[in-house]
Amino acid sequence: MATLWKLAAAGIMTVVVLSSSSKAGAFNLPTISFDEGYTPLFGESNIVESAGGRKVKILLNKHSGSGFISSDIYYHGMFSASIKLPSDYTAGVVVAFYMSNGDIFEKNHDELDFEFLGNIRGGEWRIQTNVYGNGSTSRGREERYQLPFDPTAEPHRYSILWTNATIIFYIDDTPIREVVRNVAMGGDYPSKPMSVYATIWDGSTWATSNGKYKVNYKYAPFVAHFSDLVLHGCRLDPIWQLPAARQCGELEAETATAEYSLMTPAKRRDMLRFRQRYMTYTCCYDQVRYPEVLPECEAVDEAEKEKYWKSGDIKVQPKPVVRRHRLRRRNRAKNRIEVKEQQAADQEN
Ligand SMILES: *[C@@H]1O[C@H](CO)[C@@H](O)[C@H](O)[C@H]1NC(C)=O
Ligand SMILES: *[C@@H]1O[C@H](CO)[C@@H](O)[C@H](O)[C@H]1NC(C)=O
Repeated sequence: MATLWKLAAAGIMTVVVLSSSSKAGAFNLPTISFDEGYTPLFGESNIVESAGGRKVKILLNKHSGSGFISSDIYYHGMFSASIKLPSDYTAGVVVAFYMSNGDIFEKNHDELDFEFLGNIRGGEWRIQTNVYGNGSTSRGREERYQLPFDPTAEPHRYSILWTNATIIFYIDDTPIREVVRNVAMGGDYPSKPMSVYATIWDGSTWATSNGKYKVNYKYAPFVAHFSDLVLHGCRLDPIWQLPAARQCGELEAETATAEYSLMTPAKRRDMLRFRQRYMTYTCCYDQVRYPEVLPECEAVDEAEKEKYWKSGDIKVQPKPVVRRHRLRRRNRAKNRIEVKEQQAADQEN
């Protein structure tokens, strides 16, 4: 009986591992069309739907950027989109996929961000995540990463899980950052319903090398493609009356036990591997801004921290993705071996 159970568990494990190579549907959650969940926010003429609203492009040209916002606000859940970023020369261009309630709570808003910062030709898009709670704008919790793939070549899935206990940022099936709520964070942990946004805009003043390289409209329009839209959260009426927590019991229960909320040992390994290879800045190692380490930062790994300057920036930049392309074939074989080793280890447990 125990053996059968183990085999079944191993079988499930295999399915999970295999599914990580598929780009379809975020964690098997239903996708929606643009009109089912979103509405234009600005630059409406630069928002272009296709495939019956399953895909939407947002453009930045010399007249305007553009963006959309969820029609409802959400309290906790899983929010996801597949995104393909503009290619070629994108210095100064910023694409963002994020949650915020800044329009309702001007002074004490909450926010969870994926931000993509464009670059000069041959440079790479950089990605940034951030967390704000109750207006903690003086305590930015930025992290920056390089990407292990070319984000302009094909869509990749970017997801934000937000529960009462944890926040996980995912790229495809890999968790890249986890912020576990702890008491010392207090109001810095996002706690009020938020809208979901996607935007593209001109960040010339800061996005690339601190504003040294500005948007060059010779290369416009800059186009970001969104698809596989998932808004799986507790949906609230924009003018809600009841405290959100009382309306959202069902969703809370479902989310708390969903596969994407559980940080299994295998997922934690994947996350650490990603962070060791691609993280280029973290607020957790930034001793200049935070002489006292932020409360949610895990017990600091001194060896790991040695790889970062006191400013939180990495000392040795990861190798550029272009060169990694050539290694892809070899890596794929290597990944297959890692997956097999993983399965063998799981069977032993
Ligand atoms: C959030 O901020 C408001 C206004 O600044 C403050 O009154 C409130 O106590 C804060 N809430 C938490 C949970 O820290
Ligand atoms: C969420 O967590 C807070 C603080 O840990 C707790 O006071 C609250 O009851 C929790 N809400 C739900 C819906 O679990």
